[in-house]
Amino acid sequence: MRRPILAGNWKMNKGVAEAVDFVRTIRRGLNDIKGVDKVLCPPYTALAALRDPLAATDIGLGAQNMYWEEKGAYTGEISAPMLKELCQYVILGHSERRAHFNETDEAVNRKIKAALAHGLFPIVCVGETEAEYDAGQTQAVVGGQVRGCLAGLTAEQVAGLVLAYEPVWAIGTGKAATASGAGAVIGLTIRGTIAGLHSEDTAQAVRVQYGGSVNPANVAEYMTHPDIDGALVGGASLKGDFVELVRIAAEVTSI
Ligand code: 13P
Repeated sequence: MRRPILAGNWKMNKGVAEAVDFVRTIRRGLNDIKGVDKVLCPPYTALAALRDPLAATDIGLGAQNMYWEEKGAYTGEISAPMLKELCQYVILGHSERRAHFNETDEAVNRKIKAALAHGLFPIVCVGETEAEYDAGQTQAVVGGQVRGCLAGLTAEQVAGLVLAYEPVWAIGTGKAATASGAGAVIGLTIRGTIAGLHSEDTAQAVRVQYGGSVNPANVAEYMTHPDIDGALVGGASLKGDFVELVRIAAEVTSI
């Protein structure tokens, strides 16, 4: 059984004061929900301020990016050991980083290795653009991203990862993928590629989230698909709605 995992990616939203206020309002409700892993991923600047408010809860904290070097002359970058002092998770390879900051599969691969070396749990994002989807290239693109991002990892390392399938056309658009569509990409392409690289057991062990316009009204649909193990939530994680979303996810997966 794969334990469901719901993560909120706040992207570039909320300053420190707003982040702390918001977490105070959702902390109790979120902590009371059992049976699923819950993670909040604020901007770097809010991580330190949220560490203590979340310390006595079972709510995880994550960053949204990281550099692969440990330290040195890399102005503006944040390393795995720095994050390890503050949080447990790190989102890597988000499509916005790929699109706006030229992040490649090779860079994501180096970041995953650095995160694992320092005991952080990576949430690795893959997903095709709208043009690629329209051209029928989803399988080739997503399969290629999985191979590139996971190159050189052991089966054991892969089995412990969280992947997130986030079709770019579904992010922030309200045009969510259907559960059957997303589930097929996750089951056939993502798990299929991992089975080819390692084994069917490894493919079945890795947790894979869906992300892209997930909200309280559609989360149940994704959570009941056998290949979807959770959600990576953007817009709906910025509001109190997120507690409701996680509660619904926990309810439907406990049935
Ligand atoms: P939205 O939920 O706002 O579509 O964003 C999804 C996402 O990119 C999460 O990483």
